[in-house]
Amino acid sequence: MPNNQHLKQIYKIAVIPGDGIGPEIMDQALKILKAVEHSHQCQFEYKELLAGGAAWDKFGKHLPKMTLQECQNSDAILFGAVGGPADAQDSPKWQNAEKNVILGLRKHFDLFANLRPIKNHETCNIEHKTRVDFVIVRELIGGIYFGKHKIMKHKTHNMKQGFIAEDIMRYSSEEIERILRVGFLTAQKRQKRLILVDKANVLETSKLWRKIAENIKNDYNDVHLDYMFIDNAAYQLAKDPKQFDVIVTENMFGDILSDEAAVWAQSLGMIPSASLGAGTFGLYEPAHGSAPKYTGKDIANPVAMILSAALMLRHSFGLENSANIIEKAVAEVINKGYGTPDLKPRKVVGTQEMGDLITKAL
Ligand code: IPM
Ligand code: MG
Repeated sequence: MPNNQHLKQIYKIAVIPGDGIGPEIMDQALKILKAVEHSHQCQFEYKELLAGGAAWDKFGKHLPKMTLQECQNSDAILFGAVGGPADAQDSPKWQNAEKNVILGLRKHFDLFANLRPIKNHETCNIEHKTRVDFVIVRELIGGIYFGKHKIMKHKTHNMKQGFIAEDIMRYSSEEIERILRVGFLTAQKRQKRLILVDKANVLETSKLWRKIAENIKNDYNDVHLDYMFIDNAAYQLAKDPKQFDVIVTENMFGDILSDEAAVWAQSLGMIPSASLGAGTFGLYEPAHGSAPKYTGKDIANPVAMILSAALMLRHSFGLENSANIIEKAVAEVINKGYGTPDLKPRKVVGTQEMGDLITKAL
């Protein structure tokens, strides 16, 4: 009799806790994954890796080759946060740490699609008690972030020494098409409303985005496509976030809008993200940074990290059910009034206790 009933699928996870609050929130996500592994038919293999300031001390590099290689051998990357204190940004250990690691990983693995789900909970303290639930699909490895960056000397009109700096925003039709398709597909799984956010009244790149959206929209007849200028989108997002289902946009617009949107989830500590390429491999990280000020105080919100682990189960491992269970457990704990201080909850708990409560609720 074949005895494959007990055969468990093994998933390899590259774990990068990073700097600041990274390690403490990562611990909570790992707790959750252990519990999931226990009760579901799967097994996770972890490889802990260094990046950011944590890697600098040992390798003199923010993103060592070893880390990249081990990530390459994994099915997904679970990433905490990197970066140092604001007043130490000029030191070699911290200078450009975020840029080198985060942009480095995204580019190296061709992770062009960043999904940031924005959702709040019943107990959310925001003024209007507006329930929001939408996704920002952000292009992640093109545009102004990855165009040429240059700084040049120049003489000012009164012959003084000045500078000219430039950053080029550039998109090819292929880059645009692949991210727009992710936008359409994401909308198809939801309310089927897609808004392309751009600045087509000024930018040539935006005009190309619109042209390509028009070219491919008939492949997704069930999706309603709309356009919105970035300035208006910023306003509409602050005024009436319920109108949004899926937003698709270029790299920098998506960066800015996703922080603004986080206000509706009460805190940046609530927003997970998935960065995906053409296959199932992905990088999963909270949308917030390393928050050095809060490090080691047991006050950091682990929810964005935990929800990022859920996204990993869904998008890289196809464990939709397990992902749903984690998301439900998070909602349950928050709706019971628990939360870290950033959520201003009825029952304030620490990072670790929040992790324990969610684990128990699974
Ligand atoms: C984000 C961050 C990064 C970005 C920074 C740290 C480079 O703000 O993931 O939103 O701009 O993409
Ligand atoms: Mg950002």
